Amino acid sequence: MIRVRQLTKHFADNPVLRGIDLSIAPGEFVVVLGQSGAGKSTLLRCMNRLAHADSGDLQVAGIDAMLARDERALRRRVAMIFQHHNVVPRLSVLKNVLTGRLGAMPTLASVLQLFQRSDVELALQCLRRVELSHKADARTDALSGGQMQRVGIARALAQQPQVILADEPVASLDPKTARLVMQYLRDASRELGITVVCNLHQVDFAREFGDRIVGLAHGRLVYDGDAAGLDDAALQRIYPQLDAPAPGGAPSPLPMSAANRMGA
Ligand SMILES: Nc1ncnc2c1ncn2[C@@H]1O[C@H](COP(=O)(O)OP(=O)(O)OP(=O)(O)O)[C@@H](O)[C@H]1O
Ligand SMILES: [Mg+2]
Repeated sequence: MIRVRQLTKHFADNPVLRGIDLSIAPGEFVVVLGQSGAGKSTLLRCMNRLAHADSGDLQVAGIDAMLARDERALRRRVAMIFQHHNVVPRLSVLKNVLTGRLGAMPTLASVLQLFQRSDVELALQCLRRVELSHKADARTDALSGGQMQRVGIARALAQQPQVILADEPVASLDPKTARLVMQYLRDASRELGITVVCNLHQVDFAREFGDRIVGLAHGRLVYDGDAAGLDDAALQRIYPQLDAPAPGGAPSPLPMSAANRMGA
């Protein structure tokens, strides 16, 4: 479903992706871990051409994502979920979910937002998946952050994508709400056969939800395997600053924030 070969990307003189190789099968739920600046968002953004890779080969949902020509088709097949849910606050929940249909509609109908009954039924079905159909008519800005992120998931599902790219979808939620949101995403992926690539900072969630975990450090792939293989050595490759010895040669204690992040 996704094939990445020797992908590179620079911002000015900053090499952000340094030759990534990765193949993701249809329906796989892949979690990408890596410390801040490792290149996680850039990798995801290259996959739907929000960022343009410099060189390499990138096939996503049967489309050559290196080519501008196929951008519209790519965006129809690939949905994005962001940390800040990107919902339109003043619109109703249902209308937000319906915006997931716009890319599939003829241009004029999409400009006039002439949704068909089948679009509305699909949107309601997607809201049921995230247990929010009772909020369909509510204004979206009346929802909690967790509920808004569920609307974001429903909107992505309404697009009927082959691939969902989720960039830290639960970063701003409390742990209980975050787990619930991850469950909705994982269940939808399993039941609908959608391939998911999800950037996370929470190692415990990566272990719980990832069929497969990929670790990035300084723009390179330093881990690719399952939760069982994600041992201390792998974590130190993914989070290399934790490896740094303290002055005097003794191993440095885990900083509190890193210990939390690792679920310690
Ligand atoms: N639009 C941009 N212009 C210039 N540099 C950028 C841009 N986007 C990202 N970068 C740089 O690319 C590097 C990787 O950034 P990226 O956002 O991919 O990291 P990340 O792993 O997603 O980090 P985080 O966990 O903080 O979200 C960083 O050094 C960042 O400063
Ligand atoms: Mg990021």
